[in-house]
Amino acid sequence: MDKYVTEKSRQLHIETKKYLVDGVGSFFHKNSFREYPIAMTHGKGSKLYDVDGNEYIDYVLGFGPMLLGHSPQAVNEAVRRQLTLGSHFSAPNEALLRLSKKLTEIIPSAEAESFQNSGTEVVMHAMRLARAYTGKYTIIKFEGQYHGWSDEEKISIDAERIEDLGDREKPNKIIHTKGQRLSSADDLIVLPWNDLEIVERTLKENVGEIAAILTEPIMCDSGPILPNEGYLKGLRRLADKYGAVLIFDEVITGFRTALGGAQEYYGVNPDLSTFAKAMIGGYPFGAVVGKKEIMECGIHASGTFNGNPIGTVAALATIEELSKPGIYEQFDSLAKELECGFRALAEKYNIKIYTRHIGSIFILYFGFEEDPEDFRDWLGKADIALYEKFIERCEDYGIRYTDRRGREYLSTAHTREDIRHTLEVADQVLSEIVLR
Ligand SMILES: Cc1ncc(COP(=O)(O)O)c(C=O)c1O
Repeated sequence: MDKYVTEKSRQLHIETKKYLVDGVGSFFHKNSFREYPIAMTHGKGSKLYDVDGNEYIDYVLGFGPMLLGHSPQAVNEAVRRQLTLGSHFSAPNEALLRLSKKLTEIIPSAEAESFQNSGTEVVMHAMRLARAYTGKYTIIKFEGQYHGWSDEEKISIDAERIEDLGDREKPNKIIHTKGQRLSSADDLIVLPWNDLEIVERTLKENVGEIAAILTEPIMCDSGPILPNEGYLKGLRRLADKYGAVLIFDEVITGFRTALGGAQEYYGVNPDLSTFAKAMIGGYPFGAVVGKKEIMECGIHASGTFNGNPIGTVAALATIEELSKPGIYEQFDSLAKELECGFRALAEKYNIKIYTRHIGSIFILYFGFEEDPEDFRDWLGKADIALYEKFIERCEDYGIRYTDRRGREYLSTAHTREDIRHTLEVADQVLSEIVLR
């Protein structure tokens, strides 16, 4: 196996950096292990192609949206048709009715919808709705969970060292970037995940003050962590008992775990939930859905492009494709093959590999085998250095994984041949980094 030459990507980065901050469109496009990101020309199905002509099997999938693979024909056709009619009206149309109705049918907790254009915006709106409905301001969120890049969403999303997190019972509120207002975290309480006792104690101590509990139903944004048996049901019970709104951020889990999201998968209905990424097959759009009474409590969601026709038809086409029989069974079957393959490699190289999947979300990590409980537990036992070295080398051989989080995405376009080749490359890379 020969390593890819990526000289044109390097040159392009040097040139782009002269004009564009950091030389990338989003901070996430920066590569933690390479001095320059690989620049792509096009994508088709499970593959991306770079400016040097190299082909990659892609498990990043645009950080989640490309659930139907790159350049999905059905979605692109729908968008092309809409483009001939007009891309933006600032007026309702029939497609908007069809999409709202469809989401109400397929998402268990959806009685009404509101549309925005990114995951960041839909979570912001859900938080505002919860505050408006309850007349309270404090929101409980969990350390290690990312909900977007607004000031308030970017609190305690990550940490380099466990010591930075502070006392587990009363974690530090970590401001992530310069320029974020220090007051951004004033109306948040940050807690460790998967611990109902701490949540209940906090609700009791702050009785009458908590507007919402905001959580991802699967903690996807730092070394994905699965909910303990009964945890989500427990949050539901506590939210009801103490009069808080339960918000599921399904920006990642939505459509990836099941057509009706993780709430369908686990059988727990939140009051509000947020969707973006995989719902729209590669276009910017998003939805808050939930109880009619909360959704209609009188908040104006006034974005210029909210509910725009392009995102609307893209979402409708994506949902139609995902509704075809056998889609989620196929994710399950491919992910199982990856899991089996990585477990065999763990034995071969005598290393600890953690691997699980839920729908099309495939979890891969090094350094442990048992389910982590929460972010600190994960940070304490994950072999981040080995994982980063692994994904760096895999990229050199044409397999593209996400950054240090260990959360990989499958699409409907991935094939058994992709899985076979992925495991072949993993074997080669592990032989290079573990044995030498
Ligand atoms: C769980 C979750 N919520 C919200 C967001 C923000 O979404 P966006 O990047 O579309 O603003 C993300 C982005 O990765 C996410 O993972």
